[in-house]
Amino acid sequence: MLTSPASAAEALLAVEGVSRRFVTRSETVWAVRDADLRASAGEFVCVFGASGSGKSTLLNLIAGLDQADAGRILVESTEVGRLNEDQRARLRLTNVGVIFQDHNLIEEFTAQENVALPLEVTGVPYRRALELADQQLARVGLEGLGSRLPSQLSGGQRQRVGIARALVGDRRVLLADEPTGALDSSNSRALFRLLRQLCDQGTLAVVCTHDPMCREYADTVYEMVDGSVVRRERAAEETT
Ligand SMILES: Nc1ncnc2c1ncn2[C@@H]1O[C@H](COP(=O)(O)OP(=O)(O)OP(=O)(O)O)[C@@H](O)[C@H]1O
Ligand SMILES: [Mg+2]
Repeated sequence: MLTSPASAAEALLAVEGVSRRFVTRSETVWAVRDADLRASAGEFVCVFGASGSGKSTLLNLIAGLDQADAGRILVESTEVGRLNEDQRARLRLTNVGVIFQDHNLIEEFTAQENVALPLEVTGVPYRRALELADQQLARVGLEGLGSRLPSQLSGGQRQRVGIARALVGDRRVLLADEPTGALDSSNSRALFRLLRQLCDQGTLAVVCTHDPMCREYADTVYEMVDGSVVRRERAAEETT
């Protein structure tokens, strides 16, 4: 069991002995084996590892997009594995935002409408949702760009819209799978800086990545090798 600065009481996220296997015709792959991870509000967690090491599988389990074969995952004290599919979708709308390499924005909607969508789905009136979307866009450095369509924004800006959409509604946990995979190095740095700022304001970010730059901004680094979380080190001294 790995040690962690976050006690059980203050952990926003706890992954305890989690395993996930995929059975194919020819083999059984343990994509995640007996993983432990614990993190609290304001923490920037980087999950680093080679291709195929299990990063996306772990993130999908935390997000409730997939279900573990063993162990348990607690997000804000809710055990994700005990929820049904609808409840897990609800958890993503209200507690856990997810972003991927591809921003997944709706191309026909403006940036503001994209960000407002999770609010509307949870019953926030349209006008109020747009107002809150504007506030969230300002928070990620996109003030005044709300009326643009995704195609009228740069790659880095689109990814910021995705972050705004993932956090709107006061969600405190942000999961990011290769968020800089489609960005050049200066946009990647800007994105990690933004994630650092959001964490300094209380967001817990778990970022799965190949990008070594992430280590400069993270509080905690986990390394995955063949499904196991094998190393953890503090990176705070390197943060700029
Ligand atoms: N649906 C599936 N069926 C069978 N095997 C799978 C499935 N999804 C993932 N795997 C296997 O599980 C392992 C972990 O995959 P995963 O996508 O989590 O890796 P990753 O660390 O995210 O890799 P990358 O850096 O390339 O995105 C790999 O061996 C992969 O082939
Ligand atoms: Mg992956």
